[in-house]
Amino acid sequence: MKFVILDVDTGIDDSLALAYAAHSPELELLGITTVFGNISVEEATRNTLVVLEQLDQEIPVYPGEAKPLSRDYTKPFARHIHGEDGIGNQYRQPASRQPENQGAAEFIIEQIQQNPGQVTVVAVGPLTNIARAIQMQPEIVQQIERLVIMGGAVTVPGNVTPFAEANIYSDPDAASLVLGSGMPITLVGLDVTMRTLLTADHLDEWRSTNSELALFLANMTDFYMEAYKGVVKSGRGCALHDPLAVGVAIDPSFVRTASYAVQVECTEQDSLGKTTGIHDTPAAHIDVALDVDADRFLEHFLSRVI
Ligand code: BDR
Ligand code: CA
Repeated sequence: MKFVILDVDTGIDDSLALAYAAHSPELELLGITTVFGNISVEEATRNTLVVLEQLDQEIPVYPGEAKPLSRDYTKPFARHIHGEDGIGNQYRQPASRQPENQGAAEFIIEQIQQNPGQVTVVAVGPLTNIARAIQMQPEIVQQIERLVIMGGAVTVPGNVTPFAEANIYSDPDAASLVLGSGMPITLVGLDVTMRTLLTADHLDEWRSTNSELALFLANMTDFYMEAYKGVVKSGRGCALHDPLAVGVAIDPSFVRTASYAVQVECTEQDSLGKTTGIHDTPAAHIDVALDVDADRFLEHFLSRVI
């Protein structure tokens, strides 16, 4: 059993990642931390509580950062991909539970320090909470077991600009700080996540079970599937970005990695958020996922998510 904190900007694929993680006995979810990104941090927190209620899970939720680490500009929210409410317009009413009073960065620090060498953080939104935690308590860089990040595009084009992936682009300064910190990191970027596709047939299978959770997730994912018609050229489905990061936390052999130092462009406007991998340097310590066993991962995800 692995202690895990999941850092989310919930988000449709974040919701699928929450369901997958909550249903995976290999992971003990210590808490969920939220961050701005796909939508505002308030909406991300609200959506996380709503999804956890559907999952019948009482995991505590810790609200995090509302804007990037060191710039006022925020990338426009991704309502065109995730719906006006961030969960495919399935939001009906607030969850009966409230978020915790403790902040995300404080919770991350506390848990890593209480369980040195044992906590894996899976970050599937902008890296602002993680960067803030490192700024507040730099020793966590040595005390964390591993940080698994959904973010970046090292060998392929970006998805918000030709160069940048959304989570890195949303806060390049935070990404630069985290990727340069020396923390043990696995980077699960568009290099692999664009190859793990969920299809409309899968959603039909979920619906045929008639479970309330399956209907909730299928209805929300309809919106994401529609949005992806313009993104995946074959039109064959929508990318399981955030679930793949959870999958890698459960079983690192879902991906093949190579060690790189990863630099983030923080200055040039045109290529802001670009992630460049540098192979032949002693500083290369980030395991960048370059290949994925997509069939095996998809089968595992489908066996757990609903
Ligand atoms: C990432 O950006 C967000 O829209 C998704 O939730 C995922 O974390 C993909 O680039
Ligand atoms: Ca996300």
